[in-house]
Amino acid sequence: MTARTLTTGLVGALGPTSTGTRPLAPRTGRTDGPARVVIDLDLPGTTISRHLYGHFAEHLGRCIYGGFFVGEDSEIPNTRGIRDDVVEALRALRIPNLRWPGGCFADEYHWKDGIGPREDRPRVVNSHWGDVVEDNSFGTHEFMDLVELLGTEAYVNGNVGSGTVQEMSEWIEYLTRADDSPMAALRRANGRDEPWKVPFFGIGNESWGCGGNMRAEDYTALARQYSTFVREHAGNQVTRIAGGANVDDYGWTEALMKDAGPHLPYQAISLHNYTFAHSWEEKGSARGFSDEEWYSTLANAARTEELIARHSTIMDRYDPQKKVGLVLDEWGTWWDVEPGTNPGFLYQQNTVRDALVASLHFDGFHRHADRLIMANIAQTVNVLQAMILTDPDSGALVLTPTYHVFAMNAGHQDARALDAHVLLPEEVAEVNGRALPLLSASASVRAEEGTALVSLSNLSADEPRTLVLDLRGRTVTGHEATVLTGASTAAHNTPEQPDAVAPVPLTELREHELGLEVTLPPHSFATVELRLGE
Ligand code: AHR
Repeated sequence: MTARTLTTGLVGALGPTSTGTRPLAPRTGRTDGPARVVIDLDLPGTTISRHLYGHFAEHLGRCIYGGFFVGEDSEIPNTRGIRDDVVEALRALRIPNLRWPGGCFADEYHWKDGIGPREDRPRVVNSHWGDVVEDNSFGTHEFMDLVELLGTEAYVNGNVGSGTVQEMSEWIEYLTRADDSPMAALRRANGRDEPWKVPFFGIGNESWGCGGNMRAEDYTALARQYSTFVREHAGNQVTRIAGGANVDDYGWTEALMKDAGPHLPYQAISLHNYTFAHSWEEKGSARGFSDEEWYSTLANAARTEELIARHSTIMDRYDPQKKVGLVLDEWGTWWDVEPGTNPGFLYQQNTVRDALVASLHFDGFHRHADRLIMANIAQTVNVLQAMILTDPDSGALVLTPTYHVFAMNAGHQDARALDAHVLLPEEVAEVNGRALPLLSASASVRAEEGTALVSLSNLSADEPRTLVLDLRGRTVTGHEATVLTGASTAAHNTPEQPDAVAPVPLTELREHELGLEVTLPPHSFATVELRLGE
């Protein structure tokens, strides 16, 4: 293959495509020939922050207790109570950050309940999630131990809803101060000499709902106040993340941004959006779904990109220099709980459909990496769209299809985004009023290392897709492709069949005069790693 330059543009854009200069949807056009994904390998764009591959662990169901933490006395191999197999699996994903302790739980969490000797820690009620008793055996020290075992970075979410400014201020002091201040001394008395690093701190959670049912203006005032007292101790630089909007509540983003200026005490605002087959009221089954629900789910997943674009457009208006980041710190599928499980524990299976929801999200994240600085899938273990499911009886661990998407896409972390233009020979169908191209793609490059990574999703439930990767600007000297799919759209992994959905080499790949020709199986996700010459 030889280096070529971009000579053709897009053939007409489909669907709603822009607010100002920011596209709302993938750049997709028509072609008379076979499907093509056009990539200029020599035009690197924004760096895709590794933090877009972030995670979230709440005191909810079996995420912390039984998922991450089993206690020292467990038969499951552990380090100071933290499951070794879970740590090993997540280290392999290079997870960049972990948000804790909630979620809704954050706004009723009082951190001093979770320090000191375990036998002295108070028992409290987790009123949001199952109304169960929380014994506080997993607290600040256990979380920071987990962060260190994972080799990741801490995103601690503070309590605005039922906590005080002083409580929040003391928590960051306890975590990060080096000298003999009262909180640093208390930390030492509890066995930790060195301060920890806490690069991310959340100022409440969903303050429009479970975090206090506040109005936007009222929360904005509190966010300014609380953020001010999240101090930077001992050189710990902290990104304070104000609790942002739910879905399309643009007024909330407007309120948080409208007085953005040099004295804004928070550096980022969040956004939450979950994906359902239909709606919040009618979430749908994780495993028993029709083709119609397959497509409606994927159209709903594609909406996340539109939301990111619209919230970003508001932020662009008040903060054209992009000093304030957008953080999608809760995203993913939310299905009806698995039959027979506690409705308050949000335990659900994870199929090929979840994998495609994840890959579609990542394509959108890569396109908006100029404003989107972090994203956290909800949640890492045993809750909602998890990476890992553990059996409550045997303790057996299963990696989900979503885990494999994170693994296959890990090469995008901190790489430079490349535009990936998708040209399709067919009319694009509308689903839920939104154009849903059945091929999605994104790409990134590490120019200095001479590598690029292309992600491809075939959203068709039943048709394979042959496409040409039209690679321009650099020669390609080698390639390696991997594919993830299953026997059906609802295929999933269990302790009995842990590899029903697992990545395998993609062999349907041939050299082509424009680059490479690839055939994707129905309902599949694939990555192509390219080695680049000049
Ligand atoms: O992730 C589950 C819950 O969803 C979180 O606790 C809350 O923030 C959101 O409503």
